[in-house]
Amino acid sequence: MINIEKNVSLLPYNSFSVDAVAGYFCKITEVHQLQELIQSSIYQNNPRYILGEGSNVLFTKDFQGLVIKIEIKGIEIVQENEERIMIKAGAGEPWHGLVLHCVMNDWGGLENLSLIPGTVGAAPIQNIGAYGVEIKDRIENVEGVDALTGEVHSFNSVECRFEYRESAFKHELKGKYFISSVTLSLTKKNHLLNTDYGAIRDTLQEQNVNALRDATVKTISDAVIRIRRLKLPDTAVVGSAGSFFKNPTIPRKHAELLQHEYPSMPLYHAVNQNVKISAGWLIEQCGWKGKRINNIGVHPHQALVLVNYGGGTGKEIFQLAMNIRDTVNNKFGVLLETEVNIL
Ligand code: EPU
Repeated sequence: MINIEKNVSLLPYNSFSVDAVAGYFCKITEVHQLQELIQSSIYQNNPRYILGEGSNVLFTKDFQGLVIKIEIKGIEIVQENEERIMIKAGAGEPWHGLVLHCVMNDWGGLENLSLIPGTVGAAPIQNIGAYGVEIKDRIENVEGVDALTGEVHSFNSVECRFEYRESAFKHELKGKYFISSVTLSLTKKNHLLNTDYGAIRDTLQEQNVNALRDATVKTISDAVIRIRRLKLPDTAVVGSAGSFFKNPTIPRKHAELLQHEYPSMPLYHAVNQNVKISAGWLIEQCGWKGKRINNIGVHPHQALVLVNYGGGTGKEIFQLAMNIRDTVNNKFGVLLETEVNIL
């Protein structure tokens, strides 16, 4: 049986901790409940929003429709041999819990993605990535329930069309499927550990771990957790949704001009004639880092992260984001795109 509630506060269901009300709200723990929900008139006659842990969304107003919170759980081994293991995780599993499960078993592949907030089902939508690894590198397939027919469909990694913080689930498949599970391919031995990221190397070194010789799945996970705890707010204490903007990709010529003017500007890798640059740096240069306006502000350790110190509204956070976007655009001629979903 599914239970659709009316006028539910979303305050406990979004990591920005903003208060907004959903006209209708429903929790889903099994795939068959989704199939049942699809038959209901409330589902068929209302706008819908699918929620995981609510760690990548900003509610700027009440949601006049049906919020569907996916809580499908379970982690199972699909296939394994001496070298590799394939695991399937329910969309409602907390992402970091899955990572810790893998780290504990010494299954390699997800350790760089430790402590990322959110659920397993949300992870492929924005192709979560950190410290040199993206989930696309580990995905075997993503299972989705057709939002019209209830049929289950499996998408392989190519069909997901992954790019930096992008996938088909944000575009042609948007709203058409509920992600119900994700299958990941991991290593059981001869792990391909990624210690390229400077902060990981520095942290390992601090702990006397030789990055090339002695690093393990566990030491890398521990290092990432340490780095994230130092740089990013704990959403149990301060509301936030991680990076608010994406790192922008701009034409190489524009990047060269900017670097001529600002020699300290960090550049990421080039993609064809384009170069990815650091949004955090651009925002910091505009003087926003650590700024507080009443109950909201810009995180003092990472300018890409907006925070709600308590009682801030979605509208206020959105207004701050737009002010940041405008000052960055005026100073550098770079238009930032939000990474967080704005509703
Ligand atoms: N920087 C600044 N000032 C800042 C922040 C960053 O100058 O306030 C510059 C510094 O040069 C720093 C460089 O940017 O060395 C990189 O900073 P960081 O390692 O924090 O990475 P990022 O590019 O700002 C991205 C992801 C993060 C992810 C980190 C680590 C995006 C939008 N964000 O941030 O992901 O944890 O890399 O890989 O790509 C998230 O998506 O919510 C998130 C936290």
